[in-house]
This record gives sequence, C-alpha cells and structure tokens, in this order.
Amino acid sequence: MAAAGSRHENWSSRSAFILAAVGSAVGLGNMWRFPAEAGENGGGAFVLFYIFCVLLIGLPVLLSEVLIGRHGQASAPESVRKVARDSHASEGWSVLASLGVFAAFLILSFYCVVGGWVVYYIAVFAGDLFQTGLTGGAFQGRDPSDIEGLLPGLFGNGSLMVGLNLGFLAVTIFFVARGVSSGIEWVAVYLMPLFFLLFLGITIYGAFTGNFSEAVAYLFTFDFSKLTGEVMLAAVGQAFFSLSLGVAGMMTYGAYASRDTNLGETSGIIAGADTAIALLAGLAIFPIVFAAGLSASVGPGLMFQSLPIAFQAMPLGSLIGLFFFVMVFFAALTSSVSLLEAPTAWMFEKFQMKRPTATLIVGFGAAVLGVLASLSFNEIADFHPLGFIPLFAETNFFDTLDGVTAKLFMPIGAILTCIFVGWVADVRLIDQENGLDGWLHMTWRALVRFVCPVALAVILVVGLTS
Ligand code: PHE
Repeated sequence: MAAAGSRHENWSSRSAFILAAVGSAVGLGNMWRFPAEAGENGGGAFVLFYIFCVLLIGLPVLLSEVLIGRHGQASAPESVRKVARDSHASEGWSVLASLGVFAAFLILSFYCVVGGWVVYYIAVFAGDLFQTGLTGGAFQGRDPSDIEGLLPGLFGNGSLMVGLNLGFLAVTIFFVARGVSSGIEWVAVYLMPLFFLLFLGITIYGAFTGNFSEAVAYLFTFDFSKLTGEVMLAAVGQAFFSLSLGVAGMMTYGAYASRDTNLGETSGIIAGADTAIALLAGLAIFPIVFAAGLSASVGPGLMFQSLPIAFQAMPLGSLIGLFFFVMVFFAALTSSVSLLEAPTAWMFEKFQMKRPTATLIVGFGAAVLGVLASLSFNEIADFHPLGFIPLFAETNFFDTLDGVTAKLFMPIGAILTCIFVGWVADVRLIDQENGLDGWLHMTWRALVRFVCPVALAVILVVGLTS
C-alpha cells in the first residue's frame, strides 16, 4: 500500500501489474525490431545469444529494477534514493535512475515515430480492403516494387511523417494523463488480450501457409563464427530494449506493485512472455517472407516492406494485413505509455505538479525530438548528430536516438543497477523484496553481483571497439 498522504497510485491487482508490465515489454521491439535485428545479424547466432542474454542478464536485471521500484514506491530516481537511504549508502546512486528516465524520454521520441508508420499502414490496408473487398490478396494488380515503395514514399513526405508521429504521441499522452488505474491499466487490460488473440491467429496462419521449416532453420541454427562483438552488443541491446530495461520503466511500474506480489515469479512471467512473443514474431514473419522469396536481412524494412508484399499473395490479404497492423498498434501503445510514464512520474513528483501538466510537458519535449527524428528521413537526412563518434559517424538523428539508447544508456544503466543491488544495497532489504529462496535466490544473487556486470562491461567494450 502507498504511504498515507502520498499521491501514489497502485495497480488494482497482481494481474493488472503483469499485464501492464508485459504490455510495456511487448511492443515494436518484438514485432519490428527483433526480426529486423535477427535478420541483419545473421539469424541463429543472434537469436540464441539473445535468449542467453534474456536468461542470464535480462531477467536478473528485470527483477532488480522492479524490486527497487516496489521498495521505493515512487518515481525511479526517488525509489533508488530510498533504497540507498535505507541501506545507509550514498543517495548519489539515484543518478542511475535519472539517466534511465532521460533515456526513456529519448526512446519515447523515436518510438512514436515508428508508431506513426504503423498508423499509416493501418490506413493503407483499411483503404485497400475498402477498395478490393474480401476477395484475394492485398494490393491486387499492384507491382511488388510499388508496395515496397510505400515506406520510402512515406519517408519522403516530411509533413505526413510529423503528423502521424504527433498523432501517436497524442494518444499516448491521453492515456498517461489519465493516470495509473484509469489510463495505463485500462490500455493494458483491454488491449493486451486483444493483441494476444490477433497475434495467435497470424502466427498459426504463417505456420500453415508460409515456409515454416526454412524460418525455423534460419532462426535456430547456431553458427559460432557469426557471433562477433557487434552481434553480441546488438543482442544485449535488443534484450534490454525488448524487456524495457535500463531506462527506469520497470522501476516505475514496480512502484505501483503491491507488497504481496511475488516479484521473482512475476519477473519470470514478464520475461517469459516477452521472449516467447519475440520468437513467435520471428516465426510469424520469416515464413511469410521466405515463402514470398524475399530477403531476411533488409532490417527495419522487414515488417513494413517485406511483410506487406507477402500479404499480397495471401487470400484475405488486406484483412489480415489490417489485423496485423492494428495488433502492432496495440502492442506499441502499451509500450509507449510506459515510456512516457517514467519521466512523467519523475516530473510530477519532483516539481509537485498535477499529472496531466507533467504529461503535457514531457510530451511536448518528446514532440520536439520526434519532429527532428521524423525529418531525419527527409529534410535533415544528412544531419549526423554524433558524427564525431566512429560508431555513429553515418547515423541520422532517428538512428542515433535508437543506437545511443540501446547500445549505451541501457547497458550502462543495467551495469549500475547490478552494482547497486548486488553490492551497495542492504542484503536484508533486497531479500525481503525479491520473493526468491533456495538455489534460485543464490543464482540470482551471483548473476547480479558477478555475471551481469562483468558480461555487460565486456560486451560493451568489445561491441564499441570492434
Ligand atoms: N519494450 C518495448 C518494446 O519492445 C520498448 C520499451 C523500451 C518500452 C524501454 C519501455 C522502455 O517495444
């Protein structure tokens, strides 16, 4: 329960917490970023290393984050401060959460750009369904290059990109401004089950009609020689991105969890659900792509370009395409809501503001960065904000936001979280919160203290220097 007199809200039940946290984790990261990263980083080697990262790094860090949040019952930096205070440690550790809050804000700004593309594809498929009706595949009579050209066509239209981006952000702001139980929880409780249903349908469809065995071989054949430092950093970054880690989001959601929620068990459910959905997304997308004879390694274009071409060959293609993008929209919204919540919670607590005011201020900042990210596909494509760093030399504004957060902020935030929970915080306090015992508890502790920080530091250095 929240302390008397605080304006702190709680989830209405344990399942609401699980749905909201799974909603935060499952999103564009699973449906768009995971297949794209897997395809660009050679398939099997990336996927297996990714699973390894989720189990040995992601899951322990996830538990550490929700645990800090639940103990603190406040915004992420304030929660870290409380754990530090109760452990007689320096409150300066709160910087790890402040960095996270800032990273969540950066991610929010480009996440809503991609959310805008999803809205565009919903409109395209709805229009197509309206024109051609239910017979045959999507985009009848249109050349595949035409369908592939939809995305570059959108990229070339700066004002449409900005409009869609701001539209998606506005919906996110609306729900966050309403608060934890009537806004964020509402989205999760209604949209996540709908998402699962739609998703199951598409996966079964892909398994029966697409080239399923080739996709399985592609995703699960481990070729050790392909596991370079860069692939490893990409896999860790993806694991963090997908589990919403290292950016204070899970700390923020943990703060709304009640005392009787078993955090160890809940973290396992969240990580399990998120990973299962990423793998299923791969198993839904790649069979369709292979069956259509398309390439797996086109990166970000995979979901937006290759898949719509594949929908052309399918019976009921426009309807299935429409379903697919509506589903992605739901998943993206439950994630963008959590991205906005982390900085908003910090802001209204710190400056004693009303929630809607804080939401609008953070939203305005994300809109400004989002406009720049939208325009980095057209008007300001040649602007490389971190051009002086070799890793980001050729990277535009949008990709810089993505790269810096997934490859720097998230791993660094996670390393600090592990050191804080594993070495600095009072063991008794941590043990009261984590809900683990026996060998699970010992394993978790060893992972947080030794394995995660060391592995992350090594991967970070190798990935950045290779
Ligand atoms: N995990 C979300 C996704 O996969 C993105 C996200 C990252 C959300 C960080 C919150 C915090 O789409």
